[in-house]
Amino acid sequence: MGSQAFERALTVDSDNFVSSFKQQLSMDSDPPFRQTYKKLFEDTNTIENLVIAVEECELPLIDLNRLSNREPAEKRESCKAEIARASQEWGFFQVINHGISRDLLEKMRQEQVKVFKQSFNNKTKEDKFPAGSYRWGTPTATCLRQLSWSEAFHIPTTDIHAGGSGSLNTTLSSTMEQFATTVAGLAQQLAEILAGKLGHKSTFFRENCLPSTCYLRMNRYPPCPFPVEVCGLMPHTDSDFLTILHQDLVGGLQLVKDGKWIAVKPNPEALIINIGDLFQAWSNDVYKSVQHRVMTNPSVERFSTAYFFCPSYDTVIHQNCTTKPSIYRKFSFIEFRQQVQEDVQKFGHKVGLPRFLLRSH
Ligand code: OGA
Ligand code: NI
Repeated sequence: MGSQAFERALTVDSDNFVSSFKQQLSMDSDPPFRQTYKKLFEDTNTIENLVIAVEECELPLIDLNRLSNREPAEKRESCKAEIARASQEWGFFQVINHGISRDLLEKMRQEQVKVFKQSFNNKTKEDKFPAGSYRWGTPTATCLRQLSWSEAFHIPTTDIHAGGSGSLNTTLSSTMEQFATTVAGLAQQLAEILAGKLGHKSTFFRENCLPSTCYLRMNRYPPCPFPVEVCGLMPHTDSDFLTILHQDLVGGLQLVKDGKWIAVKPNPEALIINIGDLFQAWSNDVYKSVQHRVMTNPSVERFSTAYFFCPSYDTVIHQNCTTKPSIYRKFSFIEFRQQVQEDVQKFGHKVGLPRFLLRSH
């Protein structure tokens, strides 16, 4: 929709106050995007068309059955080589036979649907969910391009395991716990394979990325009346070692490959893995943390669950796995997080790894 058509849609909508009011009443679980970000929609100068014919592609698909000890060594090695290659060339891949049962994924999804179905008011109640875990929109957005049309529960896994999510209903927290525990095993295994491929037989991940330092994020992307102008999730890279994502079949996830946005074709059997900033730094740019985003859909809601594999805040990230000179200076995870927060406040977006480049680069 061009910006004129867009203005028209806004005008028609305000004429149609009664029907949109009714719609609001029936959707009281959706956050109030339109009211809260009214100003951004009015500033038609900054409205951009985000959709420039994006091709759909299959991510590299890796069958993890081949890692089993029952398989011959060459098969295991070729599977590991595929994981490393995809992490270098795409920064993204999908895995099947990943060991997380369909049942568990289904249960997680059902619980997630239920928790988002509650009224918006309930979701924002601090005593119902761990403090600060419910997030929606983009409080720092200064133009439409910076707004994410989504809501999420961002929960430290330590809260799940230690019962710190005590205010969550018990089926939800026990399902999240099972999910986080199983997915943590997969994250650990993949991280060790990637380290191994750099010639690094290290216990780094076992020592530093504990269940108490990772995060689980349940995302919901409500239908969006402005799918051409507003993202479900703004372009970003993940601030972790790696992310494991389970998405439904709606689609909308896109990533940058060879300088172009491409859309990921959903695969119901697969989990999506992507490399985060910390792995890129730790591997001295061998593995790539690539930009990705989620597009919105005008009529269908979309759900996804992400597990962020993170170290403790005091963990220092530095490369010692390549013979090349280091590209980034040493930094601790807390330093990285603080820099990201500062940049988001100041510029409305994250700068990320370029902040930590050594001067010679
Ligand atoms: C994220 C993310 C993608 C998705 O939560 O960081 O990139 O499909 N999510 O929800
Ligand atoms: Ni992400």
